[in-house]
Amino acid sequence: MGMNVAIDGPAGAGKSTIAKEVAKELGYIYVDTGAMYRAIALYLIRNGVKAEENELISEKCKEADVTIEYVDGKQVVFLNGEDVNGFIRTEEVGSMASSSSTNQDVRKRLLGLQRELAEKNDVIMDGRDIGTNILPNAQAKIYLTASIEVRAKRRYDELVAKGMECDYEEIKKEIAIRDERDMNREIAPLRQAKDAVLLDSSELSVEEVKERMIQIIKSKIEK
Ligand code: DC
Repeated sequence: MGMNVAIDGPAGAGKSTIAKEVAKELGYIYVDTGAMYRAIALYLIRNGVKAEENELISEKCKEADVTIEYVDGKQVVFLNGEDVNGFIRTEEVGSMASSSSTNQDVRKRLLGLQRELAEKNDVIMDGRDIGTNILPNAQAKIYLTASIEVRAKRRYDELVAKGMECDYEEIKKEIAIRDERDMNREIAPLRQAKDAVLLDSSELSVEEVKERMIQIIKSKIEK
């Protein structure tokens, strides 16, 4: 087994921004599991499947082959051989991913890929169920969170910076829906693992969260 660091937390807590940088600093690879769920969601959307069609999701997800490669240190997600990185960051795909990831067959499809990556490499893996379910033996586990107001504001600023028109209250509502679904689903819900360190980024800068995270990881792996 490689060195495994598990980072879980709700949407918008800054997991991917921070984990990516920490991975670079430690020389680990960064595995974004949300992107894998998004790739399956994209496949479902493209095939006209609706979020509530659970049986059809079970059937159709079997046709979606998700693989990942690292190009210049960046994770590229392939869906049936197509690089889909440019298509998976939309709100529509994120929302579908949140719904379709409640489906057991979707989760089963990705579990092997995630564990295999962690077995073969030193990884920082982020998601919702990494510390609790995918990598229960990870050497370091961090639960990264922030208040819903802060997470909504960050998302709002991000979209505005991209020149997109958006509404703060609307974003906050969408995040609340996503939290509710991710935390209360039956299979592998978002939870802080018993042995995870809680890190609240509400009042911290990216640099501060990054430093704190590196400290936590080092304290765990140097034991
Ligand atoms: O982290 P993200 O927003 O890209 O993830 C999109 C959705 O995928 C998220 O709302 C829930 C699901 N997901 C999951 O169920 N388990 C993971 N390990 C990662 C993501």
